[in-house]
Amino acid sequence: MAAAGSTGPIGPYPERVGDDAEARVDYDKLRRRVLWTFPSGLFALGSRAADRRNLMTINWVTQVSFEPKLIGVGIEKAALTHELVAEGRAFSINTISQEDRAIVRKFTKPCEWDADASTLNGFAVHEGATGVPILDQAPAFVECEVRQAVELGDHTFFIGEIVDVGFQAAEDTPVLGMDDTRMNYGG
Ligand SMILES: Cc1cc2nc3c(=O)[nH]c(=O)nc-3n(C[C@H](O)[C@H](O)[C@H](O)COP(=O)(O)O)c2cc1C
Repeated sequence: MAAAGSTGPIGPYPERVGDDAEARVDYDKLRRRVLWTFPSGLFALGSRAADRRNLMTINWVTQVSFEPKLIGVGIEKAALTHELVAEGRAFSINTISQEDRAIVRKFTKPCEWDADASTLNGFAVHEGATGVPILDQAPAFVECEVRQAVELGDHTFFIGEIVDVGFQAAEDTPVLGMDDTRMNYGG
């Protein structure tokens, strides 16, 4: 999966590429392939605004400060999750067991919430301290309150401070990374 909305080639271009349209397309492809080799994790991000809840597959997640403990996440402006994080000012990051790799495909569109069963798209969740959903089967989770939102082109980089964490499975449970899938996001 490439970044949404990437139509034509996108600059800037190094001088060696020049003005030739084909050379620019080639450079654009090269840059994408380089970026796709960046190793990254793969997570489910939980969000909530009032009664609306969601889980979204995300790989643009990274710790950005020791003190305070900050996590940055890049979220597409068009995503429901963007609306919920902007409004709810909190999110959870849930790791995914390698045994559960199939679930990353279940959280790429807004989820259906079943209040009686407390499930999102059929996957059990519970409420964290901030009220955001936490995936029951996540080996580990962190819960963050949004401290800053940096508006970028088609994504917003939300920076959240960790307010709670937990293990829900053995600490050494192998967790999923982008390399374990054939998917790409970014580039
Ligand atoms: C492997 C993979 C990685 C993804 N990484 C991100 C990401 O880092 N940021 C993001 O905004 N969307 C990412 N997406 C797309 C979202 O999962 C989702 O399709 C889209 O943003 C809509 O989410 P919504 O349910 O909040 O509307 C990724 C999708 C896949 C399949």
